Amino acid sequence: MPMLESSAMSLAVVVLAAGQGKRMHSALPKVLHRLAGRPLLAHVLDAARALKPQQILVVHGHGGAEVRSSFGGEEVEWVEQDRQLGTGHALAQAMPKVARGARVLVLNGDIPLVRAETLQRLVDASRGGLAICTSDLTDATGYGRVVRDARKRVRRIVEHKDATARELRIREWYAGFLAAPAERLGKWLAHVKPANAQKEYYLTDVIALAAKDGVTIAVVEAQDPWEVAGVNSRHELAILERAYQNAQAKKLLEAGVALADLWRVDVRGDLACGRDVQIDVNCVFEGAVRLGDRVRVGPNCVLRNVTVGADTEILAFTQLDEATIGERCRIGPFSRTRPGVTLGDQVHIGNFVEVKASRIGTGSKANHLSYIGDAEVGARVNIGAGTITCNYDGAAKHRTVIEDDSFIGSDATLVAPVTIARGSYIGAGSTISKTTPPGQLTVARAKQVSLPNWKAPKKK
Ligand code: UD1
Ligand code: CA
Repeated sequence: MPMLESSAMSLAVVVLAAGQGKRMHSALPKVLHRLAGRPLLAHVLDAARALKPQQILVVHGHGGAEVRSSFGGEEVEWVEQDRQLGTGHALAQAMPKVARGARVLVLNGDIPLVRAETLQRLVDASRGGLAICTSDLTDATGYGRVVRDARKRVRRIVEHKDATARELRIREWYAGFLAAPAERLGKWLAHVKPANAQKEYYLTDVIALAAKDGVTIAVVEAQDPWEVAGVNSRHELAILERAYQNAQAKKLLEAGVALADLWRVDVRGDLACGRDVQIDVNCVFEGAVRLGDRVRVGPNCVLRNVTVGADTEILAFTQLDEATIGERCRIGPFSRTRPGVTLGDQVHIGNFVEVKASRIGTGSKANHLSYIGDAEVGARVNIGAGTITCNYDGAAKHRTVIEDDSFIGSDATLVAPVTIARGSYIGAGSTISKTTPPGQLTVARAKQVSLPNWKAPKKK
């Protein structure tokens, strides 16, 4: 058999993701636990896709339906492993679906941060027959140790639970990724037996079988400790989350973003920042967030899928969800926007103001204690403290339109559907349920009366 396969060989990535993850102590399948806001498996699939393989197969088992439905739109082939008899058995379930003549890259589904470049090096190194990814950057406890002979050739991998005291001292460990041509891999797998401490079919036993066949085993070392860090417990997941977040923070700082504290920021998605952006402590960014030049974000803010224009200031304890915010706005402290909000430039949204599915025009202000829902607010509108749009009648939502230059007095109740015409003034405390005429003062509240002969009731 020729040792060199053609480089035109197709690539099949197999992700092993059927394990229950006992040490997580959770009902959720391990690969659905989140790192940086996304399932572990989503990170692994990102790395896999970057290699542009012809096939991606995911072996699932424990919580299979749940895993599949979490990745509904993904172009992957699902393979079921109904009993978790070990990583070798898991891979064997996928092999019949791998295209003939393909090269196979096997990934552990619980190692989320591996770099695509490392995997590419591994695939390239497997041209000689078999390549494994290893590390000696961190403590090898729990991992499979790489056993070499006197000539430093890899002979086998021994799992931690099966290792002798002498083997446990080996620093080099198997990092959970290997690559080999499908035909040979399938042949070796067929010879794997569950004769070990855990009575499992170990994928790592193929290394000894390959060595016995005289195949050279290439080794690719991981560059970073966290790129090969497996998640087996919540503690490991928490440590990896911090490592990941710290790497994100470094990237932001290097790009010129002023972070108040590089240990107190969480980016769960993509955060793109203009120049001289300032971010105070304990902010969380989810999904796609774009911050324009000189945007300042105060402490303890949560921004999810938000675009913020230049020179806008977001003050402490503000939560923005699916919003587009103009330039030179001032939002917060303690403001909340729910999905579907568009703010023009120089809009002020103040404390304890909630805005939902509304557009608010340039220069308008709602500074205190308001609810603005399903509303179309024009430019230069002033919304007084305590103003509420009554958008819901118990069955359906209705729209409120507030035209340019209107002034809504404090504690107004705007019963939708209703239009406040251009330049209207609404007296404080009014309940408005009919369209107001433009440029007039409308007051809709009970007349104030005082009773001169009134006597306070006396206790008997
Ligand atoms: C495995 C390796 C070990 C390596 C380590 C790196 C084996 C036998 N051991 O150990 O040498 O150092 O990864 O992190 O491979 N899985 C299935 N079906 C099963 C069992 C597991 O799909 O029947 C999946 C799991 O979901 C997981 C992956 O395979 O994503 C690895 O399984 P796990 O039990 O975590 O192996 P480790 O003990 O970490
Ligand atoms: Ca593992």
